[in-house]
Amino acid sequence: MIYPIVKLGEPVLEKPADAVTEFDEGLKKLVEDMFESMYEAHGVGLAAPQIGIGKRIAVIDVTFKEDPNAKLVLVNPEIVHTEGRITSQEGCLSIPDFREKVTRAREVTVKAQDIHGKWFEHTGEDLLARAFLHETDHLNGKLYISHVSALKRDLIKRKVKKLMRAGEWF
Ligand code: NI
Repeated sequence: MIYPIVKLGEPVLEKPADAVTEFDEGLKKLVEDMFESMYEAHGVGLAAPQIGIGKRIAVIDVTFKEDPNAKLVLVNPEIVHTEGRITSQEGCLSIPDFREKVTRAREVTVKAQDIHGKWFEHTGEDLLARAFLHETDHLNGKLYISHVSALKRDLIKRKVKKLMRAGEWF
């Protein structure tokens, strides 16, 4: 099932998500649906709150279908180590058509559970590191625009409000 992507302005995006405690068939199905929804929206990462579900689940595929082994599911993820700094353009499916430069760690280790509840650690660099941070932020109710200057953030919010008024946002 393909879910519509929830956009900036929906409270679910700015609330910390709840920990996953049941590793059942429902979780497996939800993860499959999240990948489908992410690909449909042409994204390389998706967090459950972005489809309106306040649970600590994220899916990532920075290769966008090229490498099936690159598909990652993070349940209850925590960032355990970061190193270096890199500034790069960043966007979000929940804030379509906007991009801003964001400085983040270049190398990131995440600790998470898989769909069976087994804990693992994964270290990523560059785009993958950025995805770990971006998606974990989502699960903490934080959007990437919280990492840009107040001036730029207010400008984006003003433009989004204009789009909302014109009925071109939700
Ligand atoms: Ni996002």
